[in-house]
Amino acid sequence: MQKILFATSEVYPLIKTGGLADVSASLPRALLKLGYDVKILLPAYASVLEKTTEKSLKSIAQFELEGNRINIKQTRLPGTRVTVWLVDISEFSERAGNPYCGPDGNDWYDNHKRFYLFAKVAELIALNQVNLNWQPDIVHCNDWQTGLIPALLSLHQQRPATVFTIHNLAYRGLFSYQAFAELNLPDTFWHHERIEFYGQMSFIKGGLVFADYITTVSPSYAKEIQQPEFGYGLEGLLQYRNEALAGILNGIDCDEWNPGNDPHLAATYNRRTLSNKTKNKLALQERMGLTVDHSIPLLGFVGRLVDQKGVDLILSQMSHLLTSNFQLVILGSGFPHYEQTLKNIAMQNPHKVAVYVGYDEALAHQIEAGCDMFLMPSIFEPCGLNQMYSLRYGTLPIVHAVGGLRDTVVERQADGMTADENGFVFHKPEGKELLAAIERATKAYEQPDVWKKMQLNAMGKDFSWENSAKSYGKIYTQIT
Ligand code: ADP
Ligand code: GLC
Repeated sequence: MQKILFATSEVYPLIKTGGLADVSASLPRALLKLGYDVKILLPAYASVLEKTTEKSLKSIAQFELEGNRINIKQTRLPGTRVTVWLVDISEFSERAGNPYCGPDGNDWYDNHKRFYLFAKVAELIALNQVNLNWQPDIVHCNDWQTGLIPALLSLHQQRPATVFTIHNLAYRGLFSYQAFAELNLPDTFWHHERIEFYGQMSFIKGGLVFADYITTVSPSYAKEIQQPEFGYGLEGLLQYRNEALAGILNGIDCDEWNPGNDPHLAATYNRRTLSNKTKNKLALQERMGLTVDHSIPLLGFVGRLVDQKGVDLILSQMSHLLTSNFQLVILGSGFPHYEQTLKNIAMQNPHKVAVYVGYDEALAHQIEAGCDMFLMPSIFEPCGLNQMYSLRYGTLPIVHAVGGLRDTVVERQADGMTADENGFVFHKPEGKELLAAIERATKAYEQPDVWKKMQLNAMGKDFSWENSAKSYGKIYTQIT
């Protein structure tokens, strides 16, 4: 079976800022299950080293690279059989906190150098030049942090094939010419058909230009990024590469996100014991200081508080929500402006709106289980995992029809033809459209039979990784 080196900047539960970490844990596991020999390559951030005990870590290679001391350490992804190779360079292992920014919230000043070194190490491993006695057939790269890997590998005649997966095109890995000049890259790369992008260096272009195959995380997003509205200036390049570009919908980790045995819940439930879901609602209302009442529709939101997630749309309708019969619980962190505004609203309406600013895995599970409806009014959404978690937990999503949201959530059309309706979908990123969708959801909520039918549809949908992993497998075969 083929050998896959899966290069990523985040893997749950070792390090996570968003969905990339979930996917980087569950896709390699699914590939392993299909028989692939997969190794994950991850930077050895300080927080990752803290989570892995000395005993489970084995140093497997040490070498000098352009004046830097590199140490490759091997561990296992907790609870799995997947091998993780950690790239230990002081730029990763001696910095506390977030993988991309310092304690002040600003990007690390040397991110170009950190992820260039990561890419160089990946290149050496891919060429079997560091005595690991293992050479991949495929190097599977993810997002801009790994964009230079396909570019560097393109310089070699004998090399593994490369796949580059776009999880979010909005982050293009842009740096100055000065930064480019600091890296040991060939001058030929400074060209608009390579990694130069309107006078800057773009790491993601390394993946988009040089990878043998490009994938992204939903079929709709694969089409959207070829249009100016979602293409961030890269739409022309993506159109040009159209024949080597596919959208493969992410799966979810059905063990981690399973209402039937989720340890974070007040009461577990499944399609047959759906009435137990209410216990989670009451427990959530209690925990968050809301009025405890099972009959008030409870809306949830979990996510990064950034423009992408449509926070503005929610804020624009807040006065309507506050004067109607709703409760709202929000978990997230991000732009200070959003954090503060939401906290103020919660402070003024403590029994109606609860806001937890920060990162809390258990609370995310409790919101998925305890709410009736889940808000995801994203302006764009490459795939989105939370709407799939919501569906699995029978918490009906209210979404903007973009990317993976469009591909997973189904609302009955005016002609009443849809049998598998499982949520509420609006088509323009406008506050009043969101409100109208919430109103449609409320109407359905008031009809228990209709609601239950939709919940059962939602909970019955298969979001396991198997099919998606097989689609990646087909691409691996095609390019080798
Ligand atoms: P994105 O990757 O764009 O942030 P996704 O929907 O793909 O969006 O994935 C987000 C992941 O991060 C989900 O697993 C979600 O539960 C989790 N998440 C986001 N914010 C928080 C938070 N504040 N606390 C706990 N989990 C969070
Ligand atoms: C990105 C996207 C999100 C997607 C995730 C995993 O962070 O914003 O939509 O689900 O990657 O692919």
